[in-house]
Amino acid sequence: MCGIVGYLGKRNAKEVLFEGLRRLEYRGYDSAGLCVVSPSGELSVVRVVGNLDAMEKTLESFDTHGTVGIGHTRWATHGAPSKENAHPHTDCKGEIAIVHNGIIENFVQLKAELEERGHVFSSETDTEVLAHLIEENYSEDLGEALRKSLERVEGSFAVATVHKDSPGTIAAARRDSPLVLGFGDGEWFLASSVPAFLPSTRKVVFLEHNDVVVIDSTGCSITDLDGAEVRREVVEVDWSLDSAEKGGYKDFMLKEIYEQPQAVAETLRDKFDNKKEVIVEDLRMTREEALELRRIVVVACGTSYHAGLLGKYLFERWAALPVEVEIASEFRYRNLVVTSDDLVVAISQSGETADTLAGIREARRLGACVVAVVNVVGSQMTRESDGIIYTHAGPEIGVAATKTFTTQIVCMILLSLYLGRLRGTVTDAEYHAIVDELEVIPKKMEKVLGSSGEVSKCAEKYYKCDDFLFLGRGVGYPIAMEGALKLKEISYIHAEGYPAGEMKHGPIALLDADVPVVAIATMDSVYDKMINNIEEVKARGAPVLAIASEGDGEIVKICNDVLWVPETNEMLYPLLTVIHLQQLAYQVAKKRGCNVDQPRNLAKTVTVE
Ligand code: F6R
Repeated sequence: MCGIVGYLGKRNAKEVLFEGLRRLEYRGYDSAGLCVVSPSGELSVVRVVGNLDAMEKTLESFDTHGTVGIGHTRWATHGAPSKENAHPHTDCKGEIAIVHNGIIENFVQLKAELEERGHVFSSETDTEVLAHLIEENYSEDLGEALRKSLERVEGSFAVATVHKDSPGTIAAARRDSPLVLGFGDGEWFLASSVPAFLPSTRKVVFLEHNDVVVIDSTGCSITDLDGAEVRREVVEVDWSLDSAEKGGYKDFMLKEIYEQPQAVAETLRDKFDNKKEVIVEDLRMTREEALELRRIVVVACGTSYHAGLLGKYLFERWAALPVEVEIASEFRYRNLVVTSDDLVVAISQSGETADTLAGIREARRLGACVVAVVNVVGSQMTRESDGIIYTHAGPEIGVAATKTFTTQIVCMILLSLYLGRLRGTVTDAEYHAIVDELEVIPKKMEKVLGSSGEVSKCAEKYYKCDDFLFLGRGVGYPIAMEGALKLKEISYIHAEGYPAGEMKHGPIALLDADVPVVAIATMDSVYDKMINNIEEVKARGAPVLAIASEGDGEIVKICNDVLWVPETNEMLYPLLTVIHLQQLAYQVAKKRGCNVDQPRNLAKTVTVE
C-alpha cells in the first residue's frame, strides 16, 4: 500500500532511489515520483502516472546528480491516480518534499485550518497537509519540524521528508505503516521493506511506532515524538538478494510458485527434535495451559484467511479444539466474545495488514493470547503479538500470495500437531504418519510443479471463459476458495470457490457448458461425496477439470481433464493441490495478457482498513 524510499550517501540518488522503488513496486503502481536534493538545496521533483516503466522513461531526461533524495510508488487512497496526486508532495513555496505511506485521518480538518491560514493546495491527497505543516513548523531543524507537525496528525504514516535549507538531511518517521532503516558504508537507506536496499546492505533497524529518524552525513539519530533519544537494535537480515529478484523467471509470481518446495522445507527446518517431537519455540505453552484452552480463533484476510480456514480442519482434528475463523475486517467491529481462555492465531504474510493488526490489538485487550503467523521479519504484528511463528518463505514480491500460502499451511499443521501432542488428542500413529510424510512433501510438491505442461493445456482450453466454479470438500474446500481467488485477482475472470455439497443450494443454477468447474477430488474420506458432486455438475453439461490423486482410474472416466498429484496423507493434500490452481491462474492470466505481478487495483500490503 504505497512504497517509500530514502537515500543519503555518495552515489547518484536518482539511480539508488529508482532501484529501490523497483523492488517496492509490488506495494503500489498507479503513479510514482522522486525528489533529489542538490548540495546547494535545489529540489528536483519528478512525478509520473503509471508504473515504474513510465517513470524510467521520464528519468532518462531527469538530469540530477544529487546524492540525497526520497521516492514513492503509489496505491491511491485519497485522490485518483494523477500527476498532481503522485508523491512527493511539496509545500506552497516548493521548499519541502515529502513521501508518505498510510492515511492521515484528520486531514480534512487540518486542510481547512491550513487553507484558512493562506496555504494553497495542489493535490487531493491527505499527505499534502504534512508538507504545509512542516512549512509552518520549520526553522532550521527538519527533525524538529517533522516532530511538531506529526503532533497534529491522527492516523498511520511512514514518511520521509527533505527541505531545501537542510540539503544534507532526511527526516523520517513511522506510526503503524512500516519503515526500515538500512546502514551501508557511509550511506543510509530508508524503505517500506528490506528488499528495496538488499543489494547494498543487510544491516537494518526496524523502526518502531512514533520513531523519528534524522539522517545526515555524520550518521543518524532516532528519537520519539517528544525528541527524546531512543535506542534501536541493528539486526542483520538473512534474506538473499536472489530471493528478491526474478532470477530468470518471467514473473515473480512464477518464480515464487516454483520456490514452494524449498520454502516449505525451510519452514519445516528445525521444527522437530531428535525424537521427532514438534517444536513451536515461541509458543512456550505448558501442558496445563494447553489443556485450559477452550477455543482457537483465527483472524486473517484474503489468502491468509484461506490458510486459516484450512487450519480449522487441522486444529479440530489434532488438537480437538473448537475453532472459529474470522475475516479480520469483520472481527474487529463486533461485540467480541473473546476471553483469556482463547488462543488467537493471526495469519499475515506482510505482518502489516491493518484489519488483522486491529484484530490482534482487540483480542489482546480482551485478554487472549495472540500468536502471529507472519512472513516479514520485524513487521508490526511480530511486535504486537505474544508469540510468533515465521513462515520463512523469503520475500514474496508477486502481489498474488503463493509460497506464503503453502508455508502458512505448514505453520497451521505444526501448531495443530504441537497442541495435539500437549493435549494428548492426536494419536501416536497419526502423529508419526504425518511427521514422516512432511519429510517427503517438498519432493512431492516438486513433482506437481513438473506437470506445468498439462496445466498449460487446460489453460489453453478454458482461458476465454467468463466464469469458473471451484469446488472442494473437507480440506479441499479452502483450496477451492484459494483457487478461485487466485484466478479472479490475476486474470479478472469471475470465479467462485464453494463447498461442493453446498452447490445444489444455489450455485448449480450458474452451470452450463460455458462454465468450467474445477473439482478438488483427491483420494480422501470425502472422495465418494466429491464424485457425486462431479456427477451433478456433469449432468448440467459443465466441463469438469479435476485435481486428483495419481492412480485414480475412475476419475478420468467422468472428467474432461485431470491434473494429478502424488498420493499423500489426507490432511496434507492442500500443499499439493493448490500448486495446480496457482499454475492454472498464472497460465490463464498470461494467455489473457494480464500483468500477473501487478494486477489492477491491488497492492501487496494493505495498511489501510
Ligand atoms: C491474495 C493476497 C491477499 C492477501 C491479503 C492479506 O493473493 O495476497 O488476499 O492474502 O491481503 O495480506 P497479509 O497476508 O499480508 O495479511
